[in-house]
Amino acid sequence: MSSPIFVLVPGAFGTPSAYDKLVPYLEKAGFATMPEPYPSCNHSNPSIASCQEDITSLREKIILPILEQGSDVILVVHSYGGAVGGAAATGLDKKTRAANGLPGGVIGLIYIAGNVLLEGESLIQAVGGAYPPYIKTDKPSPGLSLIEPAMDVLYNDCGQALAPELEAAVKPHAQLAFETGPTAPAWADAAFEGRRTYIRTEDDCCIPASLQDAWMEKSGVKWDVVHFKSSHMPFVSKPKDLAEQLVKSANGYLAL
Ligand SMILES: *[C@@H]1O[C@H](CO)[C@@H](O)[C@H](O)[C@H]1NC(C)=O
Repeated sequence: MSSPIFVLVPGAFGTPSAYDKLVPYLEKAGFATMPEPYPSCNHSNPSIASCQEDITSLREKIILPILEQGSDVILVVHSYGGAVGGAAATGLDKKTRAANGLPGGVIGLIYIAGNVLLEGESLIQAVGGAYPPYIKTDKPSPGLSLIEPAMDVLYNDCGQALAPELEAAVKPHAQLAFETGPTAPAWADAAFEGRRTYIRTEDDCCIPASLQDAWMEKSGVKWDVVHFKSSHMPFVSKPKDLAEQLVKSANGYLAL
C-alpha cells in the first residue's frame, strides 16, 4: 500500500511557500506532499472571490486528481484553509468512495488552528461578526485585505531577524472569501470518526486558543486535540516538531 499524500492547504494571506520549512521533514518520513494555493489569495478580481470558489478549486484541481490515481489523502489545513479544506473533502472519504467503486479517499483531517465553519457560516460570522483589528480591509486595494502587524499577530514566536522574509510572505487576501460561507463540512460526517486531529496553537495571537476550543465545541464532533506550544504559524517556528506530529497522526489513521 502506498503512503498517503499530505495535501497542505495554507491559511489566508499566505501562499504554499509557508510550508517550505515543513515539507522536507515530511518527505524524509516517506510522505509525498502537495502544498496548494487557492484563488482568493491576492485574487486578480476580488469582486468575484468566494469561499466556494476556493473549495471547488481545491477539490477539483488538487484532491480529486490524487484520489483518481488511487492514492489516499490526508488534508492538513491551516486557519482559513480549514474553511476551504473542510468542505472540499465532503463525500471524498474512503468509505463513500469505495461504496461507489471509486479509488482513493481522504483518510484524515488535520486542522492547524483551522477555522471550523458550519455549512453557510462565514469566517467573519465565526469570529464574532466583525473584522478583527489586525485585518486591514481594502488594503492595498478595494476588496483585498492585509494582516498587520504580521510579526505580532502571526509570528510571535519567530525571531525578529526573520521579519523581512516573513512580512514579505504575507499576501493580500480577497475579503469576500471571509464573508461568504462554505458548503457542508466533511468533519461532520461519521466517516471521519477517529480521523480528525486539531493542532491547538497555544500562544496564538491571531486565533486565540479559546476561540479554537469554542469552534471544536460548536462542531459537536470529537477531535483528537494536540496541545502545541506555538504561534499561529507552527510550520514556520517549529517545523520539525509539527512534522513529527503530522506523521504520528497519519500513522494513527493508517492503523484504523
Ligand atoms: C498581487 O497580484 C498582482 C496582479 O494581480 C501583482 O501585481 C501583485 O504583485 C501581487 N501582490 C503580491 C504581494 O504578490
